[in-house]
Amino acid sequence: MADCSRLVGFGGYLPEKIVTNQELSQRVDTSDEWIRERTGIKQRHIISGHETCNFMAAAAAQQAMEYAGLTSDDIDAIVVATCTPDQIFPTTAAKVQQILGIKRGFAFDVSSACAGFVFGLSVADNFIRNGQAKNVLLIGSEVYSRILDWSDRRTCVLFGDGAGAVVLSAEEITDTNKQNGILGVYLHTDGHYSDLLYVDGVPGQTGDACLLKMHGQEVFRHAVTKLSEVVEEALIAHHLTHDDIDWLVPHQANLRIITGMGKKLNLPLDRVVATVDRHANTSAASVPLALNEAVRDGRIQKGDLVVIEALGGGLSWGSSIIRL
Ligand code: UT7
Repeated sequence: MADCSRLVGFGGYLPEKIVTNQELSQRVDTSDEWIRERTGIKQRHIISGHETCNFMAAAAAQQAMEYAGLTSDDIDAIVVATCTPDQIFPTTAAKVQQILGIKRGFAFDVSSACAGFVFGLSVADNFIRNGQAKNVLLIGSEVYSRILDWSDRRTCVLFGDGAGAVVLSAEEITDTNKQNGILGVYLHTDGHYSDLLYVDGVPGQTGDACLLKMHGQEVFRHAVTKLSEVVEEALIAHHLTHDDIDWLVPHQANLRIITGMGKKLNLPLDRVVATVDRHANTSAASVPLALNEAVRDGRIQKGDLVVIEALGGGLSWGSSIIRL
């Protein structure tokens, strides 16, 4: 009998240092009012001191393992979604394995910018469905503060650092639970839009810092249409309607995109998890951080039907439907 993947553990880490809009307005020509009105962001967390991509990933993963009641001996695979690792290699996942004292299994990173967690979810889910792993740690960990142009007000106000993690565990599919766990993951990329959101190099390639560039309005337009299409695609595939959804846990890029998605799905806003006001856009960490928050504060309950979605550089985008 085949297995499905259940989400059984949740964790998160946010850097200690908080940077408010007010503080940013002293560095670039912006204002708290503009940032709140156009994005919903009030503050972001930025790494300092001992905090790194590896450190945050391991801290979030440790919490997720504890939530799941698992130890390092139980983990078969570690997948980290990041495009801001501390080193090109070894991977962040290998460093997490070392930090957490996990002595078995395999570990690697996936890179798909802000859609990284959804792409990683598909990879992890497939390992479980194929019987290659029973327990997978999936982490999104990002340090965008390293790739931001702190003199560009159009981008530097939008992002923050952080990590979120989940544990996926195999559960045998029976007639009574076949609608549980990750029902499906739906992924898309259109490389023809690769110049809308990109980092202009890799460290060492040009001798310059590699910095994030974005055509914000264009990305906004694609996000609004592509995210609603990919959520509809997932619902149709599982013969579900908007009324079946208990929670939307969207990528946290802009509150206007988030509330727009909620309206399209006919969900009251208190059924849409938003953390963008406090976390800003943490790229691949944004969905697992939001999921962690809403599970731990009791909003999302076991048995709820949760829709997640994300879009980022590539352009790449995806969605998943999960019965928790
Ligand atoms: O996670 C990956 C996916 N990313 C996204 O989904 C982000 C999608 N894009 C967005 O969220 C929005 O496009 C932004 C928040 C990036 C920008 O908001 P917007 O309403 O599209 O603003 P805009 O780019 O059209 O800029 C409007 C004005 C411009 O001034 P002018 O040319 O009209 O005089 C900008 O220069 O606002 C100006 N502006 C700012 N003003 C104060 C841009 N950034 C700022 C700023 N503070 N930080």
